[in-house]
Amino acid sequence: MPKPKVFVTRVIRDKGLDLVKEFCEAEIWPGELPPSREVLLEKARGVAGILCLLTDRIDGEVLDAAGPGLKVVSNHAVGFDNIVVPDATARGIPVGNTPGILTDATADFAFALMLAAARRVSEAERYLRAGKWVTWGPSTLLGVDLAGKTLGLVGFGRIGQAVAKRAVGFDLRVIYYDPSAAPAWNASPVGTLDELLRVSDFVSIHTPLTAETRRMVNADFLSKMKPTAVLVNTARGGVLDQAALYDALKDKRIFAAALDVTDPEPLPLDCPLLRLENCLITPHIASASTYSRDMMAYLAAQNLIAGLKGERLPHCVNPEVYER
Ligand code: DGY
Repeated sequence: MPKPKVFVTRVIRDKGLDLVKEFCEAEIWPGELPPSREVLLEKARGVAGILCLLTDRIDGEVLDAAGPGLKVVSNHAVGFDNIVVPDATARGIPVGNTPGILTDATADFAFALMLAAARRVSEAERYLRAGKWVTWGPSTLLGVDLAGKTLGLVGFGRIGQAVAKRAVGFDLRVIYYDPSAAPAWNASPVGTLDELLRVSDFVSIHTPLTAETRRMVNADFLSKMKPTAVLVNTARGGVLDQAALYDALKDKRIFAAALDVTDPEPLPLDCPLLRLENCLITPHIASASTYSRDMMAYLAAQNLIAGLKGERLPHCVNPEVYER
């Protein structure tokens, strides 16, 4: 039996790649950068499976380029806003993602960003490296405490809950806004987003990027936050209006922000946010622990192979394809 042909849009960790190679005839895009649109359309032609990254837009055009033999699209990420899922569903193609295994890494990183923004860690390091540290100063680089403060989580899925769990040890009171989630880890629900913004000292975003959440963190949202508050975003850059954030941070209408995700990615170096001392930005690395990235590759490979075998994907974002 010939092995099924698949296109893998980047070199992923061996834990997943070895599995893919064992089961498939895999063409693996070797570039450090994602394949261009033209290359993606060309490489997709005639394949039975596509294993893609969050940097690849997969829509009807790509699915049609692959053709009727396409059985599965497996995303190497828990978020899947890079895939036009209704296009896949309309063609009966299951789409896989990688939930769960990056929850702890992402929650750790959200916490790292929260602490770093509150205590001005990267600003302090820049200060030191610039030779500005001349003595210990009573008022040098003062930040804000966590203990006794309120952390507001916007979105209370797996990652939001893991952040809440960590917050217990930091003596934070935790509230969340997510009408679909049940309470966990001492976190209490609030009825409205406005209420959360009004009382939170830290606001951390944990929603997927959807039509409803796109630019949810806009001038209005920011104007409802406390002037001493810290904003953290480890979800998706599209959730935030960066121009509005720039204005809020520049005018000190909030204390600081820490972003692991931006729009676009990578963030152009002339982005005004990069000129602000009270804005910390990292290059979408919240899930970048060895364990998480190994397991993302592994789950993505498992989804791909299940789809190729005609089995139900272990993690499928459009299970309605099985109801046909
Ligand atoms: C995901 O899996 O959606 C993350 O953003 C990757 O870091």
